[in-house]
Amino acid sequence: MERTLVMIKPDGVERNLVGKVISIFEENGLKVVALKKVRLSKKQAEAFYIVHKERPFYDSLTTYMSSGPIVAMVLEGENAIKKVREIMGATDPAEAKEGTIRKLFGIDKEKNTVHGSDSPESAAKEIPFFFSEFELIAAE
Ligand code: CMP
Repeated sequence: MERTLVMIKPDGVERNLVGKVISIFEENGLKVVALKKVRLSKKQAEAFYIVHKERPFYDSLTTYMSSGPIVAMVLEGENAIKKVREIMGATDPAEAKEGTIRKLFGIDKEKNTVHGSDSPESAAKEIPFFFSEFELIAAE
């Protein structure tokens, strides 16, 4: 069993897509082990995306991610990290495969509706960013 951190970004929350996005993950066998709605400050968004600090889109991305509420969750399942990335689709919704969340709902590379940890190392940093150990309720 593996755990991954997923965020529904401000464009997803604003368009009332929280239930639809969670349903897609659940239909694919993933279990919600923690869930919360939060609004990140610019500083918190910068800390979350610190690995992208040198990228040209860092300022825009962190401004966007602090522009409205997000929903953060931990999903659990076999190969959860890879599975979630497949279900989300490519970063750019224009390149995402049919049926993926970003193809269905994404607007552009930045407003691409969802984030998922890209590796076990990222998940190990991203999960404790939002959740303490006692907030993680094992699936079974
Ligand atoms: P996410 O999975 O949240 O991780 C980093 C984010 O940076 C990514 O999704 C995109 O939303 C964003 N991103 C990546 N490339 C670009 C880009 N070229 N322009 C703007 N945002 C980008």
